[in-house]
Amino acid sequence: MREGLFVTGTDTGVGKTTVALALIDGLKEAGLRVAGMKPIATGCVRTAEGLKNADGLALLERSSVPLPYASVNPYAFEPPVAPHLAATTVDTEISLGAVSDVYRELLQQVDCVVVEGIGGWRVPLNHQAFVSTLVRYLGLPALLVVGVRLGCINHALLTVEAIERDEVKMLGWVANQVDVDYRYVEATVTSLERFIEAPLLGRIPYLRPGEENTVPSLLGEVVRTVLERQTVRL
Ligand SMILES: Nc1ncnc2c1ncn2[C@@H]1O[C@H](COP(=O)(O)OP(=O)(O)OP(=O)(O)O)[C@@H](O)[C@H]1O
Ligand SMILES: [Mg+2]
Repeated sequence: MREGLFVTGTDTGVGKTTVALALIDGLKEAGLRVAGMKPIATGCVRTAEGLKNADGLALLERSSVPLPYASVNPYAFEPPVAPHLAATTVDTEISLGAVSDVYRELLQQVDCVVVEGIGGWRVPLNHQAFVSTLVRYLGLPALLVVGVRLGCINHALLTVEAIERDEVKMLGWVANQVDVDYRYVEATVTSLERFIEAPLLGRIPYLRPGEENTVPSLLGEVVRTVLERQTVRL
């Protein structure tokens, strides 16, 4: 049985794309056909073929099959603001059904779709729905990327609490050191491991330029977890 997974984070800029891209590589290495998806993006740039987003383009480029941009990023907005506000500027309402249709079509073409969220778990998409609502609607398990820096314990624990309350399966979490100057990485990760029931599936140190290609080898546990679920569901 084919299944995707949803990469969420403790905030914007915590490493969701970094993890999603490396995970696509890891899953491809394990023999799966994989597509990336960024259903909703804001802060997009105008191109001759319409609005595009760096995350969408990177996910598209890593995907196993050639895809039209709109299949990877169906909702692309220009203002760099929360999606429900960006949508309002162009009189659009984000439809979960429309995202789901695109997602299901992608899943016909590959074994696994790695879906990247926007911002964190409770970011509004319209006046009724949040990112969390979309994850439930798509029926996806979630992988949480914790951007390890000051304040992340609160963000991580509140996010885990919300994921559990929303009854979404949490595959585990990845600790990603985004702040080179943060001196309490070990203590913070140990602390989070005590508080979070779901497993710590990967640790990414602060990456110097050019070190992004080391990330897939750090996500072996995530790849194994995804493969196990796919096998069980076969
Ligand atoms: N471990 C790391 N070490 C150094 N830089 C990192 C690390 N992880 C991510 N970054 C950098 O931090 C920035 C944000 O990372 P990334 O784009 O993966 O976050 P995101 O959660 O996907 O952000 P967005 O909310 O915009 O989608 C990028 O410039 C990325 O290269
Ligand atoms: Mg991103």
